[in-house]
Amino acid sequence: MREFIGVGGVALTADEYGSEEHPCVVLLPGLTQTRKVWESAAKALAQAGRYVISLDLRGHGGSDSPKDCNYSLDAFMGDLVAVLAQLESRPVVVGSNFGGWIGLAALGNTSAPIATGLVLTNPPPEFQSLNNKSIAKTVSERASSEDFDQGLFAGGFDFIKLQNKLEPAAKNLKLPTLLVRGIDSQISSSDATQRFAKLIPQAEVSEIEGAGNYVAFDKGDEFSALVLEFLENHVPHQPLQYVSGSDARTLRDAMGCFVTGITVVTTLDDTKKPIGLTVNSFSSVSLDPPLVSICLGNHVGSLDAFRAEKSFGINVLHTGQQSTSNVFASKGVDRFADIDWSTWEQNVPIIEGSLASFECIKKDMIIQGDHTIFIGEVVRAKFEPHRDPLLYFSGKYRRLHFG
Ligand SMILES: Cc1cc2nc3c(=O)[nH]c(=O)nc-3n(C[C@H](O)[C@H](O)[C@H](O)COP(=O)(O)O)c2cc1C
Repeated sequence: MREFIGVGGVALTADEYGSEEHPCVVLLPGLTQTRKVWESAAKALAQAGRYVISLDLRGHGGSDSPKDCNYSLDAFMGDLVAVLAQLESRPVVVGSNFGGWIGLAALGNTSAPIATGLVLTNPPPEFQSLNNKSIAKTVSERASSEDFDQGLFAGGFDFIKLQNKLEPAAKNLKLPTLLVRGIDSQISSSDATQRFAKLIPQAEVSEIEGAGNYVAFDKGDEFSALVLEFLENHVPHQPLQYVSGSDARTLRDAMGCFVTGITVVTTLDDTKKPIGLTVNSFSSVSLDPPLVSICLGNHVGSLDAFRAEKSFGINVLHTGQQSTSNVFASKGVDRFADIDWSTWEQNVPIIEGSLASFECIKKDMIIQGDHTIFIGEVVRAKFEPHRDPLLYFSGKYRRLHFG
């Protein structure tokens, strides 16, 4: 947790994720929401190498309720500016609905470079056309009364003032801006979103299917993927460098940028017992003839068996087989103890229920550096592409974002 001081000394609470050395992202929830709504997005962003501050607005969650009940637009905007000033680097601000409008009002109201980008969900609605009842309904739609000060907006909130601030702020925004809308949003129509985006000098618009008013949470994975794409395009990490002679770890990190699936490669030892290990260096080599390759470290315990046998199996794992991947990369365990396996014509272990399994006849072995490349001719493959693959990227297991 990290604490910031807002307007009038109000203490504002935030969760922090990731390392402070990384480029910063500030997450702002909507009205009557707390920072907890951002939890999974914050984790995803931190995992992608961002330092994330997930803030509670004043009078919400762990942040103080102002004693003077100051819930004015200026107070919300001032809080954000104060938080940005207390950060070590200039962040990208990501706000859901009201949080995004506060971000827009604050960032478009200053010429000081206090942030590097803005992502907001939904442009502001036409408040003039909404009566107080529907505003109250909108803000309380997902609210749990413990999450916010019951005095919030007791004295009313000047939504028209917010509205009047937002248009000039939009025109004055000097930041890359991403406007995201759920296709089923009632807050703003698609046309209104495009119209509003035209006011912003550097705006991009994305619409997400199957999402409504709370697009950031209705379709959390898709929203996080859009934010990551925006960050990569506008606030990329400084690249690291490997040069000849750098340590092997840096090269491994560089190679880790290439996302792979995960396989378990199998054969039989000289006593006809099944053996295998986790391998992500699997690659397609040729379609005609059908050739694939794997690279095994020369330290691998079963290397002699792979050298001696005429064939080997390759089992591509799905998301439900992460424990299989762990077991086949661990020492001192019976790797096949809990595995349901069978053999086909080549008599190599095929793991039942894998995403895909290939039976290969060994064609070549090439020792290169500290690894041996095995080339195999595929004689049979079974696959079930509707399963989701287990992925490996940057030293961690990953999964696809589901559409
Ligand atoms: C995701 C992942 C991918 C791996 N890829 C390879 C690989 O391509 N080649 C390799 O030799 N070892 C690879 N390993 C490491 C081996 O699975 C691990 O060292 C295993 O213990 C070696 O088998 P052994 O214990 O029989 O020597 C990988 C491990 C993991 C977790």
